[in-house]
Amino acid sequence: MLLLLLLLLPAAALLPLWAHAGRIIGGRASRPHSRPYMAYVEVWKDQAVTGRCGGLLVRKDFVLTAAHCGCIACNIRVTLGAHDLSAAEDSQQRLWVQRTIPHPEFTPEPLTHDLLLLQLEQPVVVTEEVKPLALPSVRSAVRPGQTCLVAGWGLRSPAALVAPNTLHEVEVEVQDNDTCTMYCAGYREDSMLCAGSPFQRGSAFRGDSGGPLVCNRVPQGLVSYGNINGSPPAVYTRIAKFVPWIRREMRLLRP
Ligand SMILES: *[C@@H]1O[C@H](CO)[C@@H](O)[C@H](O)[C@H]1NC(C)=O
Repeated sequence: MLLLLLLLLPAAALLPLWAHAGRIIGGRASRPHSRPYMAYVEVWKDQAVTGRCGGLLVRKDFVLTAAHCGCIACNIRVTLGAHDLSAAEDSQQRLWVQRTIPHPEFTPEPLTHDLLLLQLEQPVVVTEEVKPLALPSVRSAVRPGQTCLVAGWGLRSPAALVAPNTLHEVEVEVQDNDTCTMYCAGYREDSMLCAGSPFQRGSAFRGDSGGPLVCNRVPQGLVSYGNINGSPPAVYTRIAKFVPWIRREMRLLRP
């Protein structure tokens, strides 16, 4: 049933998982500050926030997010060390982005190479609540059936209008490539992975884009896109594949 429905849906039913704040579908509130690598990414245009995403602190001065979160003629602000975005938490560090480096092969349609490196205006101060997470090795792989964790401030359901302020998270199971191809239009085996069982509810959703999928404490994916109705699986950029590019850019842009 699900499969049929999805095959009949037009490609436009696949949405980049950004815009609007909110939370993960089918998850729970994270224990405050238990994910110190999580970044909250805001896109500012004409003094207003026009987009929200998640991100991953990969070095003191770099955050990795999804390329479809980027924009032209706008500014990006990153908040680290947040749990409740509405609270004046002492742990929070807010920094403007000095430079955005989208992957050179990124295209919005079809959505591919969906990653963007953000160079912060200055390095964060590493604390208990703000800590980079090391990149995976190029050869590290995820196995189908492996359980990973995705967190974000994204929508909790397709019908949700109100933006909750606290970080949420959910465990999702990595799916095999055939399942991903079947459920997710535009899926590419070489540079993506998909997670979230089609028979369960838990998933990343709108507003979670750019946030990391962490497997065994290693970030393996970045939330990229999913089905419009929020049903899993969702598609992630496969980080390991892009580690050489990420490392090269960070080396070139040494402060
Ligand atoms: C999907 O295919 C790619 C490339 O063929 C492979 O590297 C990857 O391990 C496969 N993913 C899963 C989850 O099996």
